[in-house]
Amino acid sequence: MTRVRFLDPRGELSAEVEAPAGERLLDVAQAAGQPLEGTCEGQMACSTCHVIVAAEDFAALPPASEMEEDLLDLAAHVSRTSRLACQIRLTEALERLTVRMPGAAHDMTGR
Ligand code: FES
Repeated sequence: MTRVRFLDPRGELSAEVEAPAGERLLDVAQAAGQPLEGTCEGQMACSTCHVIVAAEDFAALPPASEMEEDLLDLAAHVSRTSRLACQIRLTEALERLTVRMPGAAHDMTGR
């Protein structure tokens, strides 16, 4: 089981769930009500599943493929620890994972 914490774009906790090994982070996020569209359903064609992984958890994930890196280059609000949630599978070895939703257009209202 992996304890997955989802943060909103401001870094505040919005959901915390336990998910079994083998699950895709995108599916876990959507089940937890996170605003990730995942439009291409993991075909690496959309980048709407972009998340920012907590720095302390980033190294525990297998590195991104070249294709994932290329797609991330096109995503908005990319950071050094950005990943595509459809490309992350939880494993037994991964005890915890914290990811933040990237800033989105609706957060630019100045509130
Ligand atoms: Fe489209 Fe991840 S769901 S790239």
